Formats: sequence, structure tokens, C-alpha cells
Amino acid sequence: MDIDMSAHPAWLPPEVWQPIAGRRVRVTGDGPLIDTVRAELRAGGATLVGDGADLEFGLGGDPALGGEGFEIVRGETRTVVRAAAPHGLLHGLFALVRSAPDGRHRPAVARRMVDHWDNVDVHPVMGQVERGYAGGSLFWRAGVPRRDLGRVAAYARLLAACGVNAIALNNVNVHATEARLLTDRLAEVAELAAEFRRYGIRVHLSVSFAAPVQHGLPTADPLDDRVVHWWARVTRTVYDTLPDFGGYLVKADSEGQPGPFTYGRTHADGANLLAGALAPHGGVVHWRAFVYNHRQDWRDRSTDRARAAHDHFTPLDGAFRDNVVVQVKHGPMDFQTREPVAPLIGAMPGTRLAVELQATQEYTGQQRHVCYLAPMWSSLLLGHEGPAIAGAADEMVAVANVGDDPFWTGHPLAQANLYAYGRLAWDHTLDPGAVLDEWIGLTFPGASPALRSTLHAVMDGSWRTYERYTAPLGVGFMVRPGHHYGPDVDGYEYTPWGTYHHADRDGVGVDRTMATGTGMTGLYPEPWASTYESVADCPDELALFFHHLPYGHVLRDGTTVIQHIYDTHFAGAAEAAAMRGHWLTLEAEVPAELFGRVAERLAEQVRSAAEWRDQINAYFFRKSGVPDRHGRPIY
Ligand code: GCU
Repeated sequence: MDIDMSAHPAWLPPEVWQPIAGRRVRVTGDGPLIDTVRAELRAGGATLVGDGADLEFGLGGDPALGGEGFEIVRGETRTVVRAAAPHGLLHGLFALVRSAPDGRHRPAVARRMVDHWDNVDVHPVMGQVERGYAGGSLFWRAGVPRRDLGRVAAYARLLAACGVNAIALNNVNVHATEARLLTDRLAEVAELAAEFRRYGIRVHLSVSFAAPVQHGLPTADPLDDRVVHWWARVTRTVYDTLPDFGGYLVKADSEGQPGPFTYGRTHADGANLLAGALAPHGGVVHWRAFVYNHRQDWRDRSTDRARAAHDHFTPLDGAFRDNVVVQVKHGPMDFQTREPVAPLIGAMPGTRLAVELQATQEYTGQQRHVCYLAPMWSSLLLGHEGPAIAGAADEMVAVANVGDDPFWTGHPLAQANLYAYGRLAWDHTLDPGAVLDEWIGLTFPGASPALRSTLHAVMDGSWRTYERYTAPLGVGFMVRPGHHYGPDVDGYEYTPWGTYHHADRDGVGVDRTMATGTGMTGLYPEPWASTYESVADCPDELALFFHHLPYGHVLRDGTTVIQHIYDTHFAGAAEAAAMRGHWLTLEAEVPAELFGRVAERLAEQVRSAAEWRDQINAYFFRKSGVPDRHGRPIY
């Protein structure tokens, strides 16, 4: 197996193989995934034997374990890992490596996917990876395949070890060159798919709805026979090359991408067209619900972007073919630091839904800031502040945060987000702190208690810290337009993008109530509709998402809106400085390069947090004229 070990080992350093090294292992079964299990065991220092084993991997487990589940039983002299299918044994192996407890383990959802927003060509604005903060693409550089397959294999292995089983290789915004991955550049996809296949990861492609037009047809109308035949033919060719191809991912009628609306057709017509082409081969289409008016007039307060996905898609419930998966962002806006759960989730009982998270930290510090996202994801999954995603989602997806950076993720601590995504997608009930602890144990083998506790001090609360010094109380955005890094309170306020905060001298926030606003609160089931509708009951963190409130309004926590803004911004920036202080104590505990990289990024985080604090506080002081009760400096 040709795995490039020159990149950072992340959660699979050599030391993690200690539970395996020196053991006599018997593996029964055949096939490519079993070969991978054997190769991993050998590389981990085990001896493969016919009998006399003290560790056994075998099929014949309870069929109820499904295609990927497994069971671990540790006896006095022998440990047995059983599965009903080879993929389960591979998961079982990685589970053993991380010292998973005895018992039966099954994934919560069948598909756990990462979506890359990688371009083949360097896009003039977005670069090689759209919203990528970890260097270039692992797959392409400046229009050509990198062919760094050892690195791809190392990546596939990391994904498999945290439970991921599907990947979309290219950006959802499909430009002209990338559209050719489906046709004359399919060989590049096949080469990558071979690496992922060994680790049980199926490859998917983002495709453009206008692909038939780009390839010479006069139309892409989903009900036109020529279009139907074009997709059927192209899809057949894809499967001739890649019999285990996963399917298509589509961003249609969204932010300028082509879609069925051009032809007066519905999103069900569009999705079903592709689903029809994929169905004979067992593929699926992931059809994104990120559809909204991005040419809105900011003067018009009746249009509410937060309603858009729900308004477009719920009327289509039941109209999609079985192999359509509607892919919904976790929140109704766009991956903000704090949003309620998207009301579309749970509102389409007759449709398969995938929930999309953003591991790449577009709005959460761009991998320059430490922001461990698992607490946010967990709270959304379990429904701490709204309807739970768990149970409503048939699949989980995360936009990837990796690139060709030596640490994979730019910020070494951002590796924890990818790891935690995989683990939470497998088991929604895991505790984010426990997942972090697991990640620390794997990534820093032999971590001292001081290292462990310091990493927890830096990371456990980092999402809330980030929230404190950025846009307040769920109002969102306030970032610099375009690249989305750093504060710019009015940056999007008078633009067509539908991302407003409506601050004036009296108050701030978006009235989404049924009584006086856009009525978005009414899209939720009870008790949430009433909870969000009521100013008194709405969680503080979402107060300005659902309500326009006067600065003097007293929140549930007893402070006024304006004082809450000041207090959290002073606290958040101070917490960032404290995080840096904690990290600087670790110089002797972690490898020098990693220490330096994190230290450098924390210095930027501290600078940026102070900038956020001062801009947000100054803005609201100037708007409201209300001084800080504690007389701290506001400019
Ligand atoms: C965000 C992001 C875009 C991306 C879009 C999407 O708006 O800024 O770069 O294309 O989400 O998810 O489609």
C-alpha cells in the first residue's frame, strides 16, 4: 500500500498501533476491503496467522449490524471483531485502534460524506479551493491533476478512520473545466476513486445542471428527451469506468448556478432527471436546497432569505424519486456561528434529507482562529435550542476543511473538526468533550495530563468564545464582504444578499415573528414556533435572529441587549488572549513545528478578536449612544 507518510499523521500516528503491534491476528474473508484490513494490520506490526490468534477479524456477524456495523468482544485470551460485511471489519479495526469499548457499533446514518469545494483550474476569485483555508487542493493544481496519490491514500485512510464513507471531489459551483470531469476528464476521477475505494469511500461528483448545454445541446430542459438521453448516456459511461460511482451533487438555481427554473420547471423535475439517469446503476443525486434570491432589494423587508429553502422545497415533498437526497444546510441562512436549525429539516417526511455542516471555517475564523465546532454540531443534532437534526436527517455531509497544507487543515487544531464531524456523523449522541479527548489521545500519543487539560482549556469553549467576539445574539454576518474574514458591521447591510441586521439608533435584529415580521417562526413545529415567536422565551443566543429589539430590552440573562453586546465582546477578546496564554505553556509538550504554527495563528486570533471587539462595540455605542456600564474603552 502506497501511503505518503510525509504529511502530518493527524489521528493515525504510528503509536496508535500499539494495541495491534506484536499480536497474532487471524483475518477471514476476501475482497478489497479485507485486503486493506490485512495491509493495515501488517503495517501496524501484527503477524497474520492461520490459527493460534489472539485477535480475530471475521465475517458472519449478526446481519443486523448492517453493511458497516461491527462488534468487539474482548475475552481473556482473545479479542474478536465481527461484522456482517467487510466494511464493518475496517471500521472495527480503526475502532480497536482508538480503544473503543466492547459491544455492537452501528452508524446512525448510512452515508457520511465530505464535500470538497476544490476547483481544477485556479478560479480568479476563489482560488484552487473555494473557501479553502488549508492551501491548495489535494487533487488538482493549476488545471492539472496533482497525481499525489500517496497523499490521497493517506487522506482516505484518515477519513475512513473517523467513519466517513463518501466524498464529492469538486466544488458545487461547477465551472467550465470542472464540468469536464464528468466526460473527457473522467480518468482523473477514476484515479482518485481507486485510492478512496480501498478505504470504503465512494466518490461522487458535483455536476452543472447546464452540462448538456456546455457539451453542445441547445437546452438543459429536464423534460426534453434529448436532455434525458444525454444524461442517461453520460451516466452510463461514468459507470462503465466506475461501477461503484456514488452519484451527482447539484447546486441549481442558487447564487447564479443554472437550474430548472430557467425552463419553468421545478426542482423535483430537475432532481428527478438526474435521479433517473443514476437509478439503473444504483447512484444517488444530492440536490442542494440552498436556493434563495441573491438579488434582493435591501429596502424590501418582506423577503426573508431564512425562509427560502423551506418555501421552495416543502411543497415538493413526495415528488422526488427515491434516489434523490435533498441536501440542506444546517441553518436557514449560511453556516453562521449561531443559527437556529433550518426549518426545512424535519418538514419533508416523504423525502430523503442530508444535513450539510461546514467544517471549513468560512464564517468561524477561517482556520486562523481556534474554533472547535463539535459543541455547535452536537447541540444541533440533539436539539438543544430547536428541533433535533438527529432522527430527521437520513445522511450527514460536511464541507471539507483540508488542503495540501502539511498539517492538512492549516491550523493544526482544526483537524479536530474533521475528526469530530466523522465521529458525530457516526454517533450523534457522542459528547463533544469526549470526542475532543479521543482526538487528543490519538493525535498526541502519550499526552501528559497537562497537555490534555490545556488543550481542553484552549478548545472546549472556543466556539462560544468566537461567538462572543463576533456578530452578537444570532444576528449573523457582519463580516467583510467577499472573503468573509474579520468585522464589517454594515458590509452586507445594503447589498442584494439578504443578510441584514437592521441596526438603527433604537435597536437591532430581524423581526421574523408571525405577529409583526416575516413569519418565519411559524415554519417551525411546536413548541419551537411559540418559543421563537415569544421575545420572553426565545433563547438569548437567537434573540436577534428572530426579533428586532431595542437596545434597552432586557434579555433572559438579565442584561440589556446593548450591555450584553459590550460584555460578551470584552469577554470574548479576553478569552482569546487567555487561549494564547494557555498554548504558550505547551512549548515543551508538542512538536516544535506544530507549536509554532498554532502560536502564530493564536497571535492573529488575539489581534482579530480585539478588532472585532472594538468595531462591534464602537458601532453599537455610536448607534445607540448608550455607554458601557463598566466604563471600558470604546472608540
Ligand atoms: C456560501 C459560500 C459560497 C458557497 C455557498 C454554497 O455562500 O460563501 O462560497 O458557494 O455558500 O454553499 O453554495
